[in-house]
Amino acid sequence: MHLSLSKVAFTFASTAILALSSSTHCAASSEESFNITPSAGKNYTLPPLPYAYNALEPVISEQIMKLHHDKHHKAYVDGLNTALTGLSNAKDADTIASLQSALHFNSGGHINHSIFWKNMRAPREDNNKSTNGLKIDKAIKEQFGSTDKLTKLMQTRVLAIQGSGWCWLVLDPATQKLDVITLPNQDTPGMVNKVPLLGIDIWEHAFYLDYLNVKADYVTNFWKVVNWDDVNQRYENAVSKSKN
Ligand SMILES: [Fe+2]
Repeated sequence: MHLSLSKVAFTFASTAILALSSSTHCAASSEESFNITPSAGKNYTLPPLPYAYNALEPVISEQIMKLHHDKHHKAYVDGLNTALTGLSNAKDADTIASLQSALHFNSGGHINHSIFWKNMRAPREDNNKSTNGLKIDKAIKEQFGSTDKLTKLMQTRVLAIQGSGWCWLVLDPATQKLDVITLPNQDTPGMVNKVPLLGIDIWEHAFYLDYLNVKADYVTNFWKVVNWDDVNQRYENAVSKSKN
């Protein structure tokens, strides 16, 4: 049985667009937009940082933020647009199949980084206490015991990643429970039916200029810049949507 070209194209395009759409509506706060307009003939665009390039210093330097956002994230956006243009112009199944990897990688990179920027804010001491009074605090305590225990677990899991990837705090919409997962490269939680709440980027481009090869120091300091209000908002949005 042969799938028609239009059917194949629809399947691949839907994979990318649904992943972005899912992240927008399930995981991201309502004001967030990934500029999902390829069907209208427009391109995805690089979302601006929600703070100044130096806002995360001394945890993450201005130099890293400029490179990470302006070069690396932009490369995922450009790669996604190129792949979608190729998909719309494809005239045979071989061409469509050859685009699958680029769609997967670049859509994941765009989603992951769009969330990651908003997961952070200016550094705070004792930042794990920022979960106090938030709705997610109860879920964290039920699932992990405390915010300190959650962050220690994520630290262990992210440092165990071999090569490039991400560690995520996610909501499983089927059980409405929190979980910690790791994913390789630019895979994103939506690809495994989880809703991303908080991600740690462990690609070298995220830390090497500041921390060289000492990943552990990057991850330890990362908790000072976690925007728990954003994580909590994603949690509340995800729980609300999973109940509908
Ligand atoms: Fe990154």
